[in-house]
Amino acid sequence: MPSSPTAVAHPLLQHKISLLRDKQTPPVIFRLLVREIAQLMLFEATRDLALTERELETPLVKMTAPVLAEPGPVLATIMRAGNVMLDAALEIIPTASVCHIGIYRDHDTLEAVEYYFNGPADIAERSLLIVDPMLATANSSVDAISQLKARGVTDMRLICILAAPEGLSALSAAHPDVPVFVGAIDTHLNEKGYIVPGLGDAGDRSYAT
Ligand code: PRP
Ligand code: URA
Repeated sequence: MPSSPTAVAHPLLQHKISLLRDKQTPPVIFRLLVREIAQLMLFEATRDLALTERELETPLVKMTAPVLAEPGPVLATIMRAGNVMLDAALEIIPTASVCHIGIYRDHDTLEAVEYYFNGPADIAERSLLIVDPMLATANSSVDAISQLKARGVTDMRLICILAAPEGLSALSAAHPDVPVFVGAIDTHLNEKGYIVPGLGDAGDRSYAT
């Protein structure tokens, strides 16, 4: 049974997503907003991260305190636009490993084109947080998740800022076992496969291309 996406509905998040949509927002502010949104969304998406206990001494007493279990999660970025979210995620989970997945959408066919993959050797045993701000047709994320499953990964979740209903349906049909966290679900895709109202091309807006 496919699970529904988890909409991370927080006023701060919604405010920042609106600023991101504004075409007047320049790349430097766009990246800053993506970073902040990624950190707010990660807070929700990592609620069940595994903890273990460590003996330590505060200035007052000895205690057993919770710390993140090792190895920590793997942050998987779908390049290019996922890299801005990745940088933000690494700030709050500095011990994470990183998996870079190079995929772009062919402009005419909207099919995913793979060009790079580099992740840790023990990826199959790790928990993955996949980041990409946009889920439009879902061709890119479906392909990224298929590449990860082909390497044995079973525990993963996807975090995206904007999603189209068409993409969410396609993703849950292809990978019903992968939970999805979204900041906002827009109305539809246009004839060129862009999310409407959307924010435009996330990679171009992040990197001024
Ligand atoms: C964007 C975005 C997603 C993809 C979403 O990447 O970052 O990866 O489009 O679209 P989809 O759900 O229809 O596949 P893009 O193809 O523009 O790559 P780029 O950032 O490297 O230019
Ligand atoms: N990729 C983007 O960056 N934006 C869209 O609206 C669709 C795909």
